[in-house]
Amino acid sequence: MEHLAVIMDGNGRWAEKRHLPRLMGHRAGAEALDRCLHFCKAAGIRYLTVYAFSTENWKRSAEEVGGLMKLLSTYIHTKEKELIANGIRFRVIGRRTDLSEKLRGEIAALEEKTKDGAFTLVVALSYGGRDEIVRAAAKWARDAAADGAPLTEAEFARFLDTADIPDPDLIIRTSGEQRTSNFLLWQSAYAEYYFTETLWPDFDQAAFDKALAAYAGRERRMGGRLK
Ligand code: IPE
Ligand code: IPE
Ligand code: MG
Repeated sequence: MEHLAVIMDGNGRWAEKRHLPRLMGHRAGAEALDRCLHFCKAAGIRYLTVYAFSTENWKRSAEEVGGLMKLLSTYIHTKEKELIANGIRFRVIGRRTDLSEKLRGEIAALEEKTKDGAFTLVVALSYGGRDEIVRAAAKWARDAAADGAPLTEAEFARFLDTADIPDPDLIIRTSGEQRTSNFLLWQSAYAEYYFTETLWPDFDQAAFDKALAAYAGRERRMGGRLK
């Protein structure tokens, strides 16, 4: 497997179960992400994409949204050295214009500093699959439509935020929900899905191994016929 994607869900429920503020769940979720990064590297995976904040998550309380944005900014500052030392390239996909100018600057700086990493961590932030497709269509219309070249799937994909990133092989969603919630709509065309009841902050090596074992048992036919 080259690319694992994760819908990191269940932080709020994890906190509520412990009578803690939701933000504590998000903090524990950031620790789970660190663990997962290491599991992926050890398993020989080269890309990890995580759904951190959707275009719909802006509907949450100002307190939660503000806390999540602050957590992200803290993550960027505290992890910089570790990411560089471990050869991890940091990338963000999503509608950046929604983010504060300060956060956008921090993201761009970290992307630049980590650009030589052999492992790629893609963080989907203010990300929505529909939004990404619409932005790609607008970019194509602006920059390429006049060329007159036929619009193919491969050509269109060049305008997505994920232009140079392979499609995910496996998408894990934690916390028992079984829906995409607008994650990687284009890129997931032939991804395998794996759902687990485990809440994201509890996601550990055993949960990771179980997901990978399930994936290993899948037969990916990509529309072809059985041998
Ligand atoms: C996922 O956890 C993280 C984000 C959406 C930011 P949730 O906050 O959705 O946790 P639950 O679903 O309420 O438990
Ligand atoms: C999806 O989780 C988004 C992220 C994990 C960042 P949500 O908790 O926002 O999704 P719904 O509302 O349950 O579909
Ligand atoms: Mg949720």
